[in-house]
Amino acid sequence: SSVSKLHRTGYHFQPRRNWINDPNGPMYYNGVYHLFYQYNPKGAVWGNIVWGHAVSKDLINWKELEPALYPSKPFDKYGCWSGSATVLPGKGPIILYTGVIDKQSTEVQLYAIPENKSDPFLTKWIKPDAFNPIVVADHTMNASVFRDPTTAWWSKDGHWRMLIGGKRNNRGMAYLYRSKDFVKWIQAKHPIHSAPSTGMWECPDFYPVSLKGTNGLDLSMVGNNVKHVLKNSFDVTRFEYYTVGTYLKNKDKYIPDNTSEDGWGGLRYDYGNFYASKSFFDPSKNRRILWAWANESDSKEDDVKKGWAGIQSIPRTVWLDSGGRQLVQWPVQELNSLREKQVKISNQKLTKGHHIEVKGITAAQADVEVTFSFSSLNKAEPFDSRWVNPQDLCALKGSKVQGGLGPFGLLALASEKLEEFTPIFFRIFKAPHKHVVLMCSDARSSSLKRELYKPSFAGFVDVDLANNKKLSLRCLIDHSVVESFGAGGKTNILSRVYPTLAVKKKAHLFVFNNGTERITVENLKAWSMKSARRT
Ligand code: FRU
Repeated sequence: SSVSKLHRTGYHFQPRRNWINDPNGPMYYNGVYHLFYQYNPKGAVWGNIVWGHAVSKDLINWKELEPALYPSKPFDKYGCWSGSATVLPGKGPIILYTGVIDKQSTEVQLYAIPENKSDPFLTKWIKPDAFNPIVVADHTMNASVFRDPTTAWWSKDGHWRMLIGGKRNNRGMAYLYRSKDFVKWIQAKHPIHSAPSTGMWECPDFYPVSLKGTNGLDLSMVGNNVKHVLKNSFDVTRFEYYTVGTYLKNKDKYIPDNTSEDGWGGLRYDYGNFYASKSFFDPSKNRRILWAWANESDSKEDDVKKGWAGIQSIPRTVWLDSGGRQLVQWPVQELNSLREKQVKISNQKLTKGHHIEVKGITAAQADVEVTFSFSSLNKAEPFDSRWVNPQDLCALKGSKVQGGLGPFGLLALASEKLEEFTPIFFRIFKAPHKHVVLMCSDARSSSLKRELYKPSFAGFVDVDLANNKKLSLRCLIDHSVVESFGAGGKTNILSRVYPTLAVKKKAHLFVFNNGTERITVENLKAWSMKSARRT
């Protein structure tokens, strides 16, 4: 029906129909990118989970194949849950995944190998009986919260290592396992890391990042100019957190740096709808690429009506910021191949209460890059030290609440008379010894429809404005997706929205300022985006 199509994406990955969740086992092998994903072949709600499979040459145009893994053995009878791929030098890829063996959700870890390594798309996978399951929970562990094996890394001591997510009491755990041959795995005495009161850690991801430059590193990389990143998806709140830290190889321990919190107040890849992410190293372009699942924000009933639910984020290149305290992310360069018609605005002044339309592009399916500047920080509003939660602050000080320096930004997926719009904006505050920059993507005004989850997603942006009075923003607008990258990818927010008026050709895009300080749109480029090929 037309309703089911209104909010389908043009260039974010989603299968033809049905439910998807986590990205699984992303890899590059023999010139082809593979993306697997948690998929329900029977409907638009979670259940009957298999590994859907798609292949691509450029991470943007995808060919959907038959599911690669589906329940076929006693050890995965109740579901083929999340996992990863490892490409073994000279031997080809191996998938590690979680199998559910009973209705109580007892989870075991399994491996699968391609039936034919020279099949360009690796369509068929086999699960050897000899060693499966390769890991089961021991008697001290809770086997129903024990899942999502990572990509394995190889060390000079002759062992492969991998992590599995779990929890002990309410402590989040990243269990560590070692193997010499990839099939017999032994649990290390201690988890590589754990943290109190964080609940179950789903989908751990652990990888090295370079202290210099933007190149990615292979997991088995060793060296001095390297830090490590550990990310976990917290089942309790459905948000992800990561730390930057040190991997002590001889102790098999990961120690987060003390530059950010290890837990609820910590850093996030994305302050919006972005969960169960997974990264992989792309040797063809020497980069690390990150993906995540963006769930729907409408109701189950809506999903059943639409016949589909869940999308994948745009794959993002990820690297360590030059300051070494946080990561930076940016859409893979291949996305630019979909850019079509371009419009530009430069040196446009915006005084308080003004908005200007960006005309001439398909505003429901667009890519926008903009740099805002201002001549002074004097009008920044005072920051209240109790404002620790950016999402609450965005709810308090939305785009309609006049400010000093900001709010300014974009109004995406806006109806002509602004009955509906998703504002993505900055607001700058003055704290005793620094400025605090808030970035919001506020879904509250995104739709006239009531029965939707419309959060005021927000994050703080760690930038030094004193020396550079500019802020940049990139927004990928795709019908029901507004995926935003602030300050060159330092703070990012993916929102799912469902406008009723601002759809297809009736969607508009504006720049706005609602603060007393005059803002300059130094440079704005916006492109209509072609749809990705999906076959
Ligand atoms: C995360 C998750 C994983 C699990 C999978 C099941 O969204 O719950 O922990 O393996 O989804 O579909």
